[in-house]
Amino acid sequence: MVWQYKRQDAAMHIHAAILWAQGQPLSVEAAELDGPGAGEVLVELKAAGVCHSDLHPVRGDWPVRTPLVLGHEGAGIVRDVGPSVSTLKAGDHVVLCWAPACGVCAPCLEGRAVLCDRVEKVTFRNKLPSGASRIHARGQDVAPFLGTACFSDLVVVPDAGAIKVAADIPFDALATIGCAVITGVGAVTNAGQVPRGSKVAVIGAGGVGLNVVQGATIAGCERIIAVDVRPKPLEIATHFGATDTIDASGDVAPAVRALTAGRGVDFVFDTVGSAATLALAFACTRKGGAVVLTGLSRMDAQGAIAMFPFVMQEKRLLGSVYGSGQPARDIPRLVSLYQEGRLKLGELVSRTYTLDNVNAALTALAASDGARGVIRW
Ligand SMILES: NC(=O)c1ccc[n+]([C@@H]2O[C@H](COP(=O)([O-])OP(=O)(O)OC[C@H]3O[C@@H](n4cnc5c(N)ncnc54)[C@H](O)[C@@H]3O)[C@@H](O)[C@H]2O)c1
Ligand SMILES: [Zn+2]
Ligand SMILES: [Zn+2]
Repeated sequence: MVWQYKRQDAAMHIHAAILWAQGQPLSVEAAELDGPGAGEVLVELKAAGVCHSDLHPVRGDWPVRTPLVLGHEGAGIVRDVGPSVSTLKAGDHVVLCWAPACGVCAPCLEGRAVLCDRVEKVTFRNKLPSGASRIHARGQDVAPFLGTACFSDLVVVPDAGAIKVAADIPFDALATIGCAVITGVGAVTNAGQVPRGSKVAVIGAGGVGLNVVQGATIAGCERIIAVDVRPKPLEIATHFGATDTIDASGDVAPAVRALTAGRGVDFVFDTVGSAATLALAFACTRKGGAVVLTGLSRMDAQGAIAMFPFVMQEKRLLGSVYGSGQPARDIPRLVSLYQEGRLKLGELVSRTYTLDNVNAALTALAASDGARGVIRW
């Protein structure tokens, strides 16, 4: 136990991984955390996945205001709840959800919770819905990345940002549900609505891509082709259900056609998100097929498509964020799939770290060492 908390305390002493300047390593240092306000909960972290979306702000791919506590994929135990919280109580085990929908805006009412206007205005600006600054270090307010900031001993998040789960599930298994798993599986089931018997390819077999592979397995796909530039992710993909693997440094589109009677696949999932992978995705898609893009480029990146064949071959392009569904519904469903033995979660954890070693976890991620690195407390 590294912290002491009494509700009347002004602030808790925590350790958090702070990005002080883009392009620099994170600094794991002492910080202070205020207790939860109305509609907020205090969560003690037990495990947190390290996602490529943590690497983008460190590298400067996305401009962000610093200082910032990174981390947005994690699980832990509720330690306190603020006023007006009725859905959670101290002791509940939770998965963090970085898209806590407001439930009342136009996209929410249309059933598209991941497009919630509040998430766009608040979460994507690294703020809490309350507007409060709960984290402080070196005499400054520190922003919470995606309103989550879970590279930290404790976090304060909105109640909708913590989804209650059964208390008997290992935290390692829960660590990656709140981003990689929901994004990858949801891209198949919600965004693609991929029919049983389909043939699919996934470009990039990392944290998200492996979950596209297992989403495709759950959806009953006949052929699941994993494409990656590194051998390790491809090897892991076969354990998650990939029927074929292709080394992306070779000529991918002819290899995909050779596996699909010359036609191309019904769906390609681009989990990398570069101009080159998007073009490759179209080249691998059959007439009438769809490309689902989940990979996030630099914010200023542009991709090009060959417009004439796009029309004549009736291809489709779908963007997909955070699994394109209803996270408050989908996270419990994913947990149920795990409990039924249909979703691999523990197997996604290939490396573990202490919070002090978060920079080593980011370096391993950048090197595509395969599956997910997870920080454990
Ligand atoms: N849409 C969303 O809601 C959402 C959610 C999470 C992550 N993301 C984004 O998705 C992307 C992937 O995230 P991740 O955590 O899975 O990353 P990751 O680093 O775990 O996996 C990326 C994989 O892609 C492979 N790769 C890289 N370049 C390639 C290429 N040209 N061809 C084939 N394979 C290639 C790497 O070897 C690696 O295995 C990132 O841009 C991340 O920011 C989006
Ligand atoms: Zn909303
Ligand atoms: Zn993520």
